[in-house]
Amino acid sequence: MRVDLRSDTVTQPTREMREAMLVAEVGDDMSGEDPTVRELEAYCAKLLGKEASMFVVSGTMGNLICVNAQTKPGDSIIFERTSHICNSEANGYARISGLAAAPVDGVKGVMPLESVRRAYKPGDLHTPKTGLIAVENTHNLSGGFVMPAAAMRDIYEFARSVNIPVHLDGARIFNAASYLNCDVKELTQYCDTVSMCFSKGLCAPVGAVVAGTRRFVEKARGVRKLVGGAMRQAGVLAAPALVAVRTMRGRLNEDRRRAVLLGKIFRDAGLQVDQDIQSNIVMVQVPETAGFDARDMVDMLAAKDVHCLALSKEQVRLVTHYYIDDAAVEYTARAVKEIFSRRQLI
Ligand SMILES: Cc1ncc(COP(=O)(O)O)c(C=O)c1O
Repeated sequence: MRVDLRSDTVTQPTREMREAMLVAEVGDDMSGEDPTVRELEAYCAKLLGKEASMFVVSGTMGNLICVNAQTKPGDSIIFERTSHICNSEANGYARISGLAAAPVDGVKGVMPLESVRRAYKPGDLHTPKTGLIAVENTHNLSGGFVMPAAAMRDIYEFARSVNIPVHLDGARIFNAASYLNCDVKELTQYCDTVSMCFSKGLCAPVGAVVAGTRRFVEKARGVRKLVGGAMRQAGVLAAPALVAVRTMRGRLNEDRRRAVLLGKIFRDAGLQVDQDIQSNIVMVQVPETAGFDARDMVDMLAAKDVHCLALSKEQVRLVTHYYIDDAAVEYTARAVKEIFSRRQLI
């Protein structure tokens, strides 16, 4: 058995998604003529509680467009120091949008309101004006932690008081809503724009969506064109995304349940894992005293066909998804036991 826990982005499209691709009605989306893309955009706008939405090829492109459409070169962007936009998107905020970074330390991925207040700059001769605040929910590098609605509200209210927009990197926003057992709109009401991925926990092969006001989406279409992201018969990609967003949201609690089980497996093997697993991401810390590091651990597991990712010398990340069932968790438990009992960590 091969168990792939490297990311929820490794998911392959399901049979239902492939069949939807085959029969999708398509047209020239750049001219707004693809009926499947239009259906997806209307569906997602409503689901996310926004006036309009636009299909894009990736979460990175979604974030880039939202950041660019709401700022001016020379502005600064406030974001959490380990957020995806700050760390893992090739610095597009600086290279393409001309923004200065105003990173803030988070607590489990959440920027404290006081720190955001301090980072905010109205702009003067010396210091760039804050153009945008970006938040991430769930927060990937912290270990999939969920930003509670109240924390989102506090930042949003502050942003409104100083008249700047808030962007939500909601690549995994449905994992957050699943943990909080709330309608996703309870979270997205506290942002001006949101980007959400179809190709992570929702299992679609490609794509993300950005949502906001009609005016924003009009502008966003221009930015998407500028960065080469305007597509033609994109209905073949929108069709599996529609299947994903309609059918996969309700099962995300299963991914969390299995992530909690995986956490326990590694904890029982003598490794450090935060007890509080809120979504589908598990971070395992390898102590210096272990006699091996995170990369060795990844290699040892890979030799047993269990695949995960070393984020650093001390940290290994595992992510559950549609293709990680109970049998995969049990298989992983056996592999971990075989490896680590020999090493006398347990
Ligand atoms: C929080 C977050 N935002 C955005 C992205 C970017 O998505 P993509 O890989 O589709 O560009 C990722 C990807 O892992 C992510 O984890």
